[in-house]
Amino acid sequence: MQNNIDWQQFETPDLIEKEVCKRILVLAQEAITERGQFKFVLAGGKTPERMYRFLAKSDADWSKWFIYHGDERVLPIDDENRNSVMAANAFLNSVAIPKNQIFDIPTELGVEESAEAYRSIVQAAMPFDLVLLGMGEDGHTASLFPGHVHDETDVVHSIYNSPKPPSERVTLSVKALSNTQNLFFLIEGANKRDAIKQWREGEDLPVVSISALQNLVVFLDKAAVDVE
Ligand code: 6PG
Repeated sequence: MQNNIDWQQFETPDLIEKEVCKRILVLAQEAITERGQFKFVLAGGKTPERMYRFLAKSDADWSKWFIYHGDERVLPIDDENRNSVMAANAFLNSVAIPKNQIFDIPTELGVEESAEAYRSIVQAAMPFDLVLLGMGEDGHTASLFPGHVHDETDVVHSIYNSPKPPSERVTLSVKALSNTQNLFFLIEGANKRDAIKQWREGEDLPVVSISALQNLVVFLDKAAVDVE
């Protein structure tokens, strides 16, 4: 069951991204102070890229950061359409997080082999400190799509029929994405307006299935909010 959501609306993408960056840095410092490390699951897609660039210019105790991905597309290791390549170019290549603390989903190995390899990494990592997610126009998140049925006990799913190309992906499950102290959704743009409206009206969308152990915050820009 999705815990109470903190809806945070901002005028522009720039303002929303600076606020999200700031909050991530605060959460990271708190986690490092309390637990000696910060376990952070990155979102894919285009929306988080600019925010990652703000993180790349920030100051943090990077040696204590551990990076995971919410999902990955099945593409060659250096394909620019991979979420890991976007995150590396926008953020990870610019900060001193030890390479052995960055856990990309090895989809270059193929769906089943990479899903199996990532299961043990996710099992060892949970609970996360922060999961960052985006949302598609149909209310999907990570690679969890409307109408798709999964084994809810699993922590990683193999996807063969993604409606958003490429069709083959590996994704963390609802169970894994919800096993986090904090969860941030970063959602921008008028093309997300209908899904946000459906979400707020209680429609059963993949985004609705995600929860968090402590705080669930949805960061929206004005364009994504339906003004009736
Ligand atoms: C992916 C993402 C996906 C993304 C949404 C929103 O691999 O595409 O994991 O869940 O977050 O589709 O994508 P945009 O931010 O590009 O709109």
